[in-house]
Amino acid sequence: MDAITAITSRRVVRVFARKPVTLAQLKTIIDAGRHAMSARNLQPWQFVLVLDPATLETLGRLSTTGRFVGQAPAAVVVLKDRDNRRWADIDCAQAVQNMASAAHALGLGTCWVGNFAADKIAELLAVPPRWSVFTVLPFGYADPGATRESRQLRPRSQTAHYERFGRNVPWQ
Ligand SMILES: Cc1cc2nc3c(=O)[nH]c(=O)nc-3n(C[C@H](O)[C@H](O)[C@H](O)COP(=O)(O)O)c2cc1C
Repeated sequence: MDAITAITSRRVVRVFARKPVTLAQLKTIIDAGRHAMSARNLQPWQFVLVLDPATLETLGRLSTTGRFVGQAPAAVVVLKDRDNRRWADIDCAQAVQNMASAAHALGLGTCWVGNFAADKIAELLAVPPRWSVFTVLPFGYADPGATRESRQLRPRSQTAHYERFGRNVPWQ
């Protein structure tokens, strides 16, 4: 899958097939995160790969808006550097986007989890105090039987402007 298709056809996956993912796939995904742009190249992230079903189940319980993590065959907990207050959120978000696109290109899916018990997850994963939990990303194959929500993408004409705000771009 080419990069443009991976970016434009990716959708979140919240229901996972009971099919394992390989370490090689997860290495590619984490490497995609490692390759994200970061301000001053500080790379203010760490990635904790979780494969243990019991830990995944606990992560699911601790993910308030991401219970589905407990059903995924793998998860990556993204940690951000507390010492980098200016850019760490933006840099980590870019790493997440890279990982989501890479996963999709490999035939896998993920969903960003925005609400979770950060301190409990940090304790569970023995995270040193310098790092805080940025998000939890489950990874796996989409359950083919699950209904996929359609997404209303805001139209290009209401999002892109030409030379001045409010002018339509003369796309061919
Ligand atoms: C910062 C952020 C936080 C999100 N948090 C959650 C979440 O807690 N639980 C969830 O199910 N989806 C979450 N999502 C996924 C969005 O709901 C999803 O990306 C959006 O509906 C668009 O769908 P699509 O990515 O399939 O195009 C989050 C996405 C972002 C970018």
